[in-house]
Amino acid sequence: MRSMAKIIVTGAAGFIGSYLCEELLQNHQHDVVGIDAFIDLSTPTWIRKRNLHRLLGNPRFTFYEGNLLHVPWDILLKEADIVYHLAGMPGVRSSFGPDFVHYTTHNITATQRLLEGCKQYGVKRLLFASTSSIYGEKNGKVDESAATLPLSPYGITKLTSEHLCRVYYENDGLPVVILRFFTVYGPRQRPDMAFHRFIKQMLDREAITLYGDGTQSRDFTYISDCVRAVAAAGFAAEIVGETINIGGKERASINECITLLEQLFQYKASIKVVGDIYGEPTSTWADITKATRMLGYSPAVDLKTGLQFEIEYVKQLYGYVN
Ligand SMILES: NC(=O)c1ccc[n+]([C@@H]2O[C@H](COP(=O)([O-])OP(=O)(O)OC[C@H]3O[C@@H](n4cnc5c(N)ncnc54)[C@H](O)[C@@H]3O)[C@@H](O)[C@H]2O)c1
Repeated sequence: MRSMAKIIVTGAAGFIGSYLCEELLQNHQHDVVGIDAFIDLSTPTWIRKRNLHRLLGNPRFTFYEGNLLHVPWDILLKEADIVYHLAGMPGVRSSFGPDFVHYTTHNITATQRLLEGCKQYGVKRLLFASTSSIYGEKNGKVDESAATLPLSPYGITKLTSEHLCRVYYENDGLPVVILRFFTVYGPRQRPDMAFHRFIKQMLDREAITLYGDGTQSRDFTYISDCVRAVAAAGFAAEIVGETINIGGKERASINECITLLEQLFQYKASIKVVGDIYGEPTSTWADITKATRMLGYSPAVDLKTGLQFEIEYVKQLYGYVN
């Protein structure tokens, strides 16, 4: 691949997409076009627009506001080298019930239309943002060969998209790479995600709303670690057709995370259990051997440091500090 690259990032106004664009633009040979439709189901539009602030000042970044279901591929994909497909409808709990239609639309139908566009315009690599949710309940470390058995409608739509990618890879030779993210956190984390909610509640001296008994554990991936791996996957040799776990530096239970937050805030939180865990596994744990081998990946940020950065972000977002 030539060093000068035209890169498309879908979901560029999102949590991970906005940081990915910033990471890619660190390389002065890269031009990045970010696409986003400001879907406000999990995050209000003002927060998504705020995510773009730093990017909009960069002359090598262009923002295209539009929905993947309708955007013109002849303008966007012609001459595109790499497409990072992060646009989607995230969130496990809300994928049950009437909102499911948004999951099929933004995760499945939009992905299929993008795959068609990438095929038509001969994109050199397509990276798809998948999720640990496709694995379902597993014991111990999980590598990419583990059986997939999602527990939620969200997981089903992401797994379906993985299969769509595979079909275009096998039938059309579309150069696809699948990346499975494990609970990403840090600044710009979506307001529906647990840490963002917990931090806001602690700042307001409100009870932390908890699902389950807090013993459920997650492999937590700090945002800068995640986007470094994702960016690298656009350029790494011999990874087309592969599926790669992107896990974090540390695993912890939700109770352990709350203890860390209490240490950082220096007060004991009150907890309000608001329901059982639903549609989620009791534990996630990524085997990242493949990412280390293929992408040179080595997550660096520990949970306490990452949480501290997220606290600073949430404070600024809601005006607790100027
Ligand atoms: N955050 C995590 O921990 C996590 C974990 C696993 C997988 N993922 C996946 O990573 C991706 C990014 O997640 P995130 O947390 O940054 O979510 P996010 O909601 O912040 O970002 C997704 C962005 O995609 C945009 N979008 C959605 N549908 C669109 C469409 N049809 N056309 C144009 N834009 C559209 C939204 O407006 C949003 O800005 C998602 O695909 C998600 O499923 C995230």
